[in-house]
Amino acid sequence: MRLTSALLFSAIASVSAFTAPTPHAQVSRLNTQLHVAAETKPLGKPGTAKLDTDWKDLGFEFRPTKSNLRITYKNGEWGEFEMSEDPYINVHMGATALHYGQACFEGLKAFAHEDGSVHVFRPDENAKRLQSSCERTLMPVLPHDKFIEAINEVVRDNIEYVPPYGSGGALYLRPLLFGSGARIGLQPADEYTFIIMVMPVADYYKGGLSSPVDGILITDFDRAAPRGVGNVKVAGNYAADMLPNMRSKKAGFPIGLYLDAATQSNIEEFSTSNFVGIDSENKKYVTPKSSSVLPSITNKSLMKIAEDEGLTVEARDVLLEELETFDEVMACGTAVVVTPVGSITKLGETDEDTVKYTFGESQEEVGPITRRLYDRVRAIQYGEEEDKNGWLYKIN
Ligand SMILES: *Cc1c(COP(=O)(O)O)cnc(C)c1O
Ligand SMILES: *[C@@H]1O[C@H](CO)[C@@H](O)[C@H](O)[C@H]1NC(C)=O
Repeated sequence: MRLTSALLFSAIASVSAFTAPTPHAQVSRLNTQLHVAAETKPLGKPGTAKLDTDWKDLGFEFRPTKSNLRITYKNGEWGEFEMSEDPYINVHMGATALHYGQACFEGLKAFAHEDGSVHVFRPDENAKRLQSSCERTLMPVLPHDKFIEAINEVVRDNIEYVPPYGSGGALYLRPLLFGSGARIGLQPADEYTFIIMVMPVADYYKGGLSSPVDGILITDFDRAAPRGVGNVKVAGNYAADMLPNMRSKKAGFPIGLYLDAATQSNIEEFSTSNFVGIDSENKKYVTPKSSSVLPSITNKSLMKIAEDEGLTVEARDVLLEELETFDEVMACGTAVVVTPVGSITKLGETDEDTVKYTFGESQEEVGPITRRLYDRVRAIQYGEEEDKNGWLYKIN
């Protein structure tokens, strides 16, 4: 009896050792061939896709392109790239992403330069941030080089959809990674899906920064707890923000500012962008330092440019009352680079309790430092200013 089962076991083991890897090996060989074929194909031209609108009129919304890229994690390893034309994904209804929010995403852009080459802004930083989101939510880390290669592949395949130089647009890349395997008890999944979807977007400001927006202080909700997940780009953070965000908009304030959850005394960040305050007199760029703020790559880049412009950069606790010391306030993130903020209102029970902080002399005009920082980031992205810091990754 013991002998039989031992024999049976070794028979199964040897069969599976022989058969199991074979289909897998064939699949990956096939993919490698496709991959090689794609790489040797000459690079196409940006801005040549046929759209139903002008490049300048694109909004910030989904629109079909040629393909999206997918990689599946199974049996303890990441598979090969697959290019898909299907905007739908087929996932198990028990997927951990759907029930428990085991999911994260990134956002970055590709820009066409005057010579027709295409460059992605700081993908290394997105690769690192994606890894920290994966670590915090027990998802397998996508290797850095694989992330960069995937970015190259998906932009290359959709190069016609990169808005042409001069249109002010960009190809927005939205990588996402989530638990696609089923688990009903609270546990990490054993299967994951990584996708990069891409879409062309126009210049948010159509040629120049628009007038500052009015912000509101969110006083009845918190975005993130001090030791929670605010510092990683995980899906649940945005579900928590939908109600306060929509309420702010309905009240006439396009942007909401959060305070720290523990003390309600320090500024944290806006819903989906970091807070920056400029003190022009003392030539300071001030941004909150907090364990529950999402480390923005735009903020990091602006900090560097601000230093270059001779400003002193301070990343530290910023008290709410300090709002009155700022001459310019901006919200920064990949989608817009910067949104000038003209005022922030703290609603009280009565009109008398309501405080409105205003920045600069005019709430109609964009401050000079905001404008300067914005122009320089854009010039680097479009290849009009030398990329001294090596921020651009050239699609090849
Ligand atoms: C994505 C995001 C930002 C902006 O980050 P960038 O890397 O500059 O695009 C800021 N705050 C939050 C909460 C975010 O999700
Ligand atoms: C701005 O970005 C830097 C670098 O990512 C970070 O250290 C700092 O805390 C950020 N400020 C805010 C408000 O996120």
